[in-house]
Amino acid sequence: MGSIKLESLKKAFGSQIVIPDANLEIGDGEFVVFVGPSGCGKSTLLRLIAGLEEPTGGRIVIDGQDVTKTSPAQRKLSMVFQSYALYPHMTVYQNIAFPLKMAGEKADLIRKRVQEVATSLDLLPYLERRPRALSGGQRQRVAIGRAIIRQPTGFLFDEPLSNLDAALRVSMRMEISDLHKRLGSTMIYVTHDQVEAMTMADRIAVMNAGRIEQFATPLELYRRPANLFVAGFIGSPKMNFIEGQKADLYGAHTIGVRPEAVEWSTTSGKWQGRIDRTEHLGAETVAYLTLDKGEILTLRTSLNEELVAGRTIHVSPRENSIYRFDANKAAIGFGSGQNV
Ligand SMILES: Nc1ncnc2c1ncn2[C@@H]1O[C@H](COP(=O)(O)OP(=O)(O)O)[C@@H](O)[C@H]1O
Ligand SMILES: [Mg+2]
Repeated sequence: MGSIKLESLKKAFGSQIVIPDANLEIGDGEFVVFVGPSGCGKSTLLRLIAGLEEPTGGRIVIDGQDVTKTSPAQRKLSMVFQSYALYPHMTVYQNIAFPLKMAGEKADLIRKRVQEVATSLDLLPYLERRPRALSGGQRQRVAIGRAIIRQPTGFLFDEPLSNLDAALRVSMRMEISDLHKRLGSTMIYVTHDQVEAMTMADRIAVMNAGRIEQFATPLELYRRPANLFVAGFIGSPKMNFIEGQKADLYGAHTIGVRPEAVEWSTTSGKWQGRIDRTEHLGAETVAYLTLDKGEILTLRTSLNEELVAGRTIHVSPRENSIYRFDANKAAIGFGSGQNV
């Protein structure tokens, strides 16, 4: 149980419109990620769904019921924050047990559930510790334990891994994905990190200035970005965008070429460029070029030490990997589609 539908949802803080008009349908059991730059309204949208903010307009429907006017508790959604928000004076056991205790559940049932949850999150050895005696990853697992113990309809995560170091983020990412598979509950996960979004989501809502620019699977976003914003946001290094004469030849205002879709040669190619800088990353080399009209181009290839700064090379966009955009930044075609 846990389909979530947003219908023309609006939120303004005073005169500042933060969410102009959000429409979204999240299926039961789906793992959806809201991704977008800082300040684009991800947390606000999540808090609206949780019931922690009151919308200025529109409706929120959970499992067919209009919950727009109901309290957070009635929505049966559990929220996990970046700041963990654990009770410092309580043990791990007490922190995890807290929601059930508040709900007036029997001591036996609480004990049984805490054991189950602590087992599934590898927290059994730490039940008598207080949060300050735990690592960041363990604290985050306690916060997740407290969220799952109530067996909610769905989970809302707001940048839950941002305070962790890179290695721990990767392992927690997998743990949350496993948790999703195990519980099968609907999850909405907010992050500004597109790699996190790409690796975890069934579907991603890419947000920009309060608007949902596109809602699709990770690979659809990568292969078929709806507009320039999504094209530039998904993928690392970022897609190259070229305007002017080179784009005109493809019947576009702007063309986009991913760094991995740029081919290079010492003898011939469509464009010529000078290498400004290279990064040899082990498995791959990333080279930053300036083309003849001053356009900047990033090229990504398997490790190649011939690519050195100062060298002039020929580059060609892979014809079937060219993205075309109009002057309004909307995608108008993929692949070259024409001979130039
Ligand atoms: N309680 C509030 N009062 C006024 N403005 C707010 C409030 N909460 C968020 N905002 C504004 O709404 C915008 C979106 O914020 P937020 O949803 O936190 O973005 P994100 O989570 O994507 O970083 C920001 O401009 C922020 O300043
Ligand atoms: Mg936020």
